This record gives sequence, C-alpha cells and structure tokens, in this order.
Amino acid sequence: MDIVEVKLEDLNVKEFIAQKIGEISSTVGNGIAINALSGGVDSSVVTMLGYKALGRRLKTFFIENGIMRHEEPQQVVSTFRALGVPIEIIDAQKQFFQALRGLTDPEEKREAITRTFYKDVFSKVVKEHDARFLLQGSIYTDVEETIAGVKRQHNVLVQLGIDTEKRFGYTVIEPLIALRKPAVRVVAKALGLPETIYGRPPFPGPALAARIIGEVTKERVEIVRKATKIVEETLSDTGAFQYMAILHKEKVTGIRDGRRDYGHQIEIRCWESHDAKTGLPTRLSFDTLEEMAARITEEITDVVSVTYNITRKPPSTLEAV
Ligand code: XMP
Repeated sequence: MDIVEVKLEDLNVKEFIAQKIGEISSTVGNGIAINALSGGVDSSVVTMLGYKALGRRLKTFFIENGIMRHEEPQQVVSTFRALGVPIEIIDAQKQFFQALRGLTDPEEKREAITRTFYKDVFSKVVKEHDARFLLQGSIYTDVEETIAGVKRQHNVLVQLGIDTEKRFGYTVIEPLIALRKPAVRVVAKALGLPETIYGRPPFPGPALAARIIGEVTKERVEIVRKATKIVEETLSDTGAFQYMAILHKEKVTGIRDGRRDYGHQIEIRCWESHDAKTGLPTRLSFDTLEEMAARITEEITDVVSVTYNITRKPPSTLEAV
C-alpha cells in the first residue's frame, strides 16, 4: 500500500494537529464537510480536527443504527456538547435492521452495514446539507487488515479502489490514515478529549453486529447489549486491551425452575494485546468469571450458558464476526 505510516515515536503531535487542520481547511475551502461520530477514539479525533478547521461548516452526526451499546448515543452526544461541538442524532435503526434481515454470513453482514451507512443514510445527509466532503477516521491498521483480506473494515473504501465521488457523491478525507491506534490516542489527549474517549478500548465499526453470530435482529442485539454491559462493568478495571460478550447462533439446553429451558449461549472474551494484531486471553480469576456468568444468566433470562474463550489470536480474531 502506498500510505507511509507515521510511527508513534516519530509523531510530533502539535505539528500533526496543525498540519491536519490546515489540510482539512484547504481541501474543504468554503464548502461544507460532514462526518459521523461513533464516540470511538478515531472518529472523536476526526470530529475535533474537523471542528477546529471548519467550525460550524462541519456537520457531525451520530448515526443511531440500533447496534450500539447501552445508552451509547446519549453519552457520546453529551460528551461532545460539553466540548462545545454540536452533534445531531440520526435515527436509522429501521434501515439497518432491514438491511441485516436474514443475513448470517459475516462478510454479507459487514457489506450490508457498509452499504446502509454510506449509500442509504450518509449519501442522503450529504445531499441534504449540500456537502461534498466526508471526514472519516480510518487508520493504518484498518487498511492493512482489509488489504490483507483478514476482515473488511467498514470504513475502508478508497484503498479498495472505490470511487466515492462516483458511487456516493462525495470525497472522503482521512486525516488519520497514517496512524495506528496508540498514536491516535496521543493526538486525542492533546486535543483535550476526556480520558473516557482517549483511553477507551477499541469498539468495532459494525458495533454489536460484530459480536452476534448468525442473524442480527433487534431481539438478539438486546441480549448481547445487556451481556456487554455486564462484561464491561465487571472487567473495566482489569486494564485488558478489550473485553466483550458474543452471542452464539445456536441455542442449547438448560434448566430453569426445574424445567428444560432451551436458551442462548454467551461467550465472553477478554484480550491482552498491544496492537490488536495478536492477542492472548486474559487470565481472569475464576471468581470473576463465575460472577459474570451468574449475573448474565440472572439478568438475561434467555441465556442458559456462559463460556470464556481461551484461544489466542491467531488463530482466533478478537471479534467473532
Ligand atoms: P479482529 O476481530 O480483526 O479485530 O481481531 C481487530 C481489532 O479491530 C477492531 N475493529 C474492528 N474489527 N471489524 C472488525 O472485525 C471492524 O470494522 C472493526 N473496527 C475496529 C476490533 O474491535 C479489534 O480491536
């Protein structure tokens, strides 16, 4: 690939910020740019850079796709409001669930999310606002993994030869494309973003859909959302790189109130990693694991089985889909 990586040790954060603000300013000119904020460190940094460069000519949207975590939309919007950056929420839940209906193949699910996001939801927003530019937070690793054919990251378009002008009607600007996550975190901190953002564990573009094996329906998202909340509450102090709950496709037999209960299976993963390229399962205490299993099966009555993944990456990947 022809992008030259800017390594963390070579990053001059002040210069980087000034340079990117200048580039965004001159590319967009007097025009309008839009961007989608998910609350992850990458899109948060892009929002701040864009806002510093363009002020109110940057229109930032939080796309409520129905597959985010518990109260995530409200939390993200209020964090940015506190920083003086206005965010508009677009409710696109119906479109996403419609696009995902009946799909079980991982790449088809990713493709449906990408298509819905860029073509159905974003193209419309761009047109409505007469914007010709989309700012987005793709980073070096996204491109690397997509080109290597490991997984198609939802935000990689230009590097796959997709002409966004022709296909979607806008030009994509990617200020972070030469950085990896640790460098993005340094930029985030320097931009004054709170630790809840610059220190936040990675969360995938396809959101909870990356953690649902099989069909993504409203009901199944709700199960994994509740389990995610429990896993995050229990493991946030571990310092692990990432921790998550995954909903399995098949149900299994369990017992509730002395009777057979055919219920869902949740798999917990907790990872030690530096760059997400490789990973080791965290050696969690059995008490912690039991505590999570008890809470998950008590608070989500459709779940009868909880397991912990002890595989390394590779051959596993961090996410399940
Ligand atoms: P995997 O699952 O490939 O994830 O080991 C590597 C890191 O990338 C994060 N991430 C994504 N993973 N699709 C993914 O499967 C995406 O669109 C995506 N965006 C980010 C993932 O959470 C893990 O940290």
